[in-house]
Amino acid sequence: MEFKKGKGITMLTAYDSMTASIIDKAGIDIILVGDSLGNVFQGKDSTKFVSMEDMIYHTSAVKNGVSNAHILADLPYQSYENKSQALFNAKMLVENGANSVKLEGYQKGIIKFLIENDITVCGHVGLLPQTAENFKVQGKDDNSRNLIIEQAKLIEEEGASMIVVECVPSSLGKELTEILSIPVIGIGAGSDCDGQVLVINDMLGLNTKNAKFVREYANLNEVITEATKQYISDIKNKNFPNESESYK
Ligand code: KIV
Repeated sequence: MEFKKGKGITMLTAYDSMTASIIDKAGIDIILVGDSLGNVFQGKDSTKFVSMEDMIYHTSAVKNGVSNAHILADLPYQSYENKSQALFNAKMLVENGANSVKLEGYQKGIIKFLIENDITVCGHVGLLPQTAENFKVQGKDDNSRNLIIEQAKLIEEEGASMIVVECVPSSLGKELTEILSIPVIGIGAGSDCDGQVLVINDMLGLNTKNAKFVREYANLNEVITEATKQYISDIKNKNFPNESESYK
C-alpha cells in the first residue's frame, strides 16, 4: 500500500458492485469490504458469523465495480488462526479482487508470514468487533491503553502497511499516529489520525441509530421510505406506469 501518513486518507466500506462503483468514481482512496457486512448486509448482531465464502462473494462483487480505488478485504472471524490458514484465506481474497487484507488484533507471526508471502496487510486495534465482549470505547485506562499501543507497535514491526484504530479516545488516536510510521486510519479515534473510515450504511443514514462517531452525510432511510410510499400510492391510484412508461 503506497499511502502516505498525514495525507487525509479516505476509506469507506462497500459490499456490492454498484455502491463500490459510485464511491470509486467519487474519488475514495480505499474501499473496505468489511466483515461489518454481517451487521449491515446480513442483519446479524455480530460479525462472528461472516464466512470466507461471504467475504469472497462480496470482494469479487466490489472488484467488478472498481477501477481506481485500493480494495481492502477483511479476513473474517477464525479465518487466520494459524499461518497456513491465514495465508490460504488471504490468497483467496486477493485472487478475488482484494489488493490487501485486514485482520483484527495481534497474533504473533501471522502478519509477518503473510507479508513474506507477498500479501499486503492492514492491522486493526482498539475495538475488535470479531471478539469484543462489549462495544464501549477502548483504551480508557492505562492498562488497556498501553496494551493497544503495544499491539499496534508489534503489528507495525511485523510489516503491516497500515492500521485501523477503532473506538478509542482521541488522545490515543493521536498518540498512535505520532508513534507509528505506517498510516493510522481512525474510526471513532479522533481527528489526528492519518485517515478516516466509516461504514457506508452509517454515513448514508440507512441506520436509524448510529454511534457517536458517525457523521451522517445523507439520510437515505428517509429517501427510501418516501420513495417507497410514493411508489405504493402511485400503484394504488393507477398512476404507475403511465403511457411513457409502457410499450406500444
Ligand atoms: O468491518 C468493518 O467495516 C471494519 C470497520 C469498522 C473498520 O472493520
